[in-house]
Amino acid sequence: MKIKKDTHAIGKSPKVVFLKGKKQFIEDLDREVRVVKQSSYFVEDLARDFHTKYGIIKKTDLQKGGRVQSDSEKEFSVFDAFFIDKYRRIKRLAQIIPLKDIGFILAKTGVGNRSLVVEAGSGSGALSIFLARHVKQVVSYDIDADNQDVAKRNATNLQIKNITFKLKSIYEKIDEKNADLVCLDVPEPWLAIGTAKDALKQGGFLMSYSPTILQTADFVNAIHSNPDFVHLKTVEVIEREWEVDGRKVRPTSKSIIHSGFLSLARRM
Ligand SMILES: C[S@@+](CC[C@H](N)C(=O)[O-])C[C@H]1O[C@@H](n2cnc3c(N)ncnc32)[C@H](O)[C@@H]1O
Repeated sequence: MKIKKDTHAIGKSPKVVFLKGKKQFIEDLDREVRVVKQSSYFVEDLARDFHTKYGIIKKTDLQKGGRVQSDSEKEFSVFDAFFIDKYRRIKRLAQIIPLKDIGFILAKTGVGNRSLVVEAGSGSGALSIFLARHVKQVVSYDIDADNQDVAKRNATNLQIKNITFKLKSIYEKIDEKNADLVCLDVPEPWLAIGTAKDALKQGGFLMSYSPTILQTADFVNAIHSNPDFVHLKTVEVIEREWEVDGRKVRPTSKSIIHSGFLSLARRM
């Protein structure tokens, strides 16, 4: 007997399944209580029903998308995962550059679809992949093959094709010329100022990202004493998320406060 494949699920984009939170007045308690916690799920297997704490969503509803009901009559929104939904699920090594800092790099350098960007180290590829969505070409250096393999796999899973990975130390040589931006996320960024100088076009940006202020000071002081660069600024981007729920309006306890310091310089 020929087995019929579940063709609906083949080749389909993963889905995001979203449930809006809900509060309800409970008379016995004489107050509003959260009866449904806002939840979102990333669903890759569309060939099976999806089980949640708030009921089961039928596979046919997953495949169809839109507003659907679980078997316990909770209303979910089901839609194709966007780039950002997939990006948030990349495999992460110890430290990645978070989105708030990537936003700063994109905004302050203005790199765009004609730009060449060099980055080191590739790590998980979090920065290289995000930049590659906006620029013409990213060349990503790392000295650790295992780390770079994670970045390569993340890029492939996200169908990012404009990153060239190189297993080389950025301190020794950058093969590229006329780069618009060189990003350094390495332990001793001051050792790459010379190679970055040769790779950057005049006016190009050098961005260094360091978790500690001592690394940052060593990098910026090396820039100060280098005639080929001018230091523009060093910043820490603080993202403070607020909880807004009726009259309860206050910063959440889970805001990202410190991730790293960003130093921006420009090639003379
Ligand atoms: C903090 S991780 C980079 C994270 C990455 N920017 C991201 O957003 O996922 C630092 C990486 O730099 C690499 N690295 C260290 N020294 C290096 C060097 N001299 N040249 C290139 N990569 C280097 C390490 O192997 C490590 O993978």
